[in-house]
Amino acid sequence: MEKLIIEGGRELVGSIQISGAKNAALPLIAATLLAPGIHELTNVPDLRDTRTILALIGELGCTCRRQGSTLYIDSSDVAYSEVSYDLVKTMRASVLVLGPLLARLGRAKVSLPGGCAIGERPINFHIRGFERLGVHCTLEQGYVDARREGELKGGTVHFDIPSVTGTENLLMAAVLARGTTVLKNAAREPEIGNLIDMLNNMGAEVEGKGTDQITIHGVDKLSAAKTAIIPDRIETGTYLMAIAAAGGQATLTGCEPGHLPALLDKLMEAGVEVKTAENSISVSMASNRRQALKGVDIKTMVYPGYPTDLQAQFMALMTLSSGICVIKETIFENRFMHVAELRRLGAQIQTEGNSAVVTGRGPEGLNGARVMATDLRASSSLVIAALAAAGRTEISRIYHLERGYENLVDKLNGLGAKVWKENE
Ligand code: EPZ
Repeated sequence: MEKLIIEGGRELVGSIQISGAKNAALPLIAATLLAPGIHELTNVPDLRDTRTILALIGELGCTCRRQGSTLYIDSSDVAYSEVSYDLVKTMRASVLVLGPLLARLGRAKVSLPGGCAIGERPINFHIRGFERLGVHCTLEQGYVDARREGELKGGTVHFDIPSVTGTENLLMAAVLARGTTVLKNAAREPEIGNLIDMLNNMGAEVEGKGTDQITIHGVDKLSAAKTAIIPDRIETGTYLMAIAAAGGQATLTGCEPGHLPALLDKLMEAGVEVKTAENSISVSMASNRRQALKGVDIKTMVYPGYPTDLQAQFMALMTLSSGICVIKETIFENRFMHVAELRRLGAQIQTEGNSAVVTGRGPEGLNGARVMATDLRASSSLVIAALAAAGRTEISRIYHLERGYENLVDKLNGLGAKVWKENE
């Protein structure tokens, strides 16, 4: 296994290009199963997770060719096969093939994902939604075996919680159903809008993009299309906070400022200078002013509230402030795995249930140490703290990072950081 070595205390200066969104690429790659032909997806990041889902649709009969950040996926010969536990346990988003397989083949058997570091992660809303469309689901030996009797029928699905992949799975099941489906209390994340655009490019009739009520008028068939993956708002937010934490001045290009309303607001409230343009964001924080960072409270919410996927990163930034703040995690039940590791770098954090109180120590408060990555976003939080800390930090188990951040080492070194990988 590899570890990441970071020499902290260096300012970050310059410009980097943001990649396509991991959490848009995964559902959009799954959506190619819906229609035979050669689909073209542009701005697709090359990540561990995108390689995993491409392997998965390959097992279902698809062939894929990558040309730079463009993927050509031929899904003419999709055939039924089970999706194994071995695959699903490495990436729970594999459950996203359920909807398109039910729509195209009428049957899908996928291992239940099981939990992960941040929570139990059930898929009961997905299953209940499919049953509303006339699907019969049985759970046996850790698998969900879903099959439709006859055609999928439109229906009304109400989500108890606006589940992101639950909304995506039901969208993909409903586009070929007979009649109209209405998803209520649906998730509104930009990645859902990207999927809706792709489905409509393929000939679907989906209304309600960006709202919590999505109406899908089923059609008889769909055809392959060309769609661009939106920029990764979580990668964008992660680098904004890395630059603010390390100190410096940089511009992120190829991003979508409109997808980060809550974060930009909180960064400005904390005293970080942020300037936005149509497809770029500039951020600056003089090193000798980082102690002027204010402690700012956040509470994670569904979009457009503060994203849970940027909670760990904000906590790292707040450890450098000269104030106190409360960070509340309302989406997942165990998303403070980064706290113990941040403490090893000198952070002062107290947790109580789903709340964490951070007492900022100013930039002098963090010193390099050996720490361990536990999940994707926790590991990016450790990178941010390490960039600000004095001395050397070693982060082990960095396969977590490689799931969601394309060319992280090159991008950081391109801004003047000193980061490299070594074998553990
Ligand atoms: C998506 O996960 C993202 N993953 C997650 O990003 C993100 O943290 C999450 O949405 C919330 O924004 C992808 O898009 C691939 P949910 P998802 O269903 O869809 C509960 C990352 O770091 N729930 O919106 O699995 C669930 O336990 C990853 O890139 C049920 O109870 O999240 C959670 O508490 C991490 N039953 C809440 O709802 C269900 O059937 C929200 O989960 C489904 C969800």
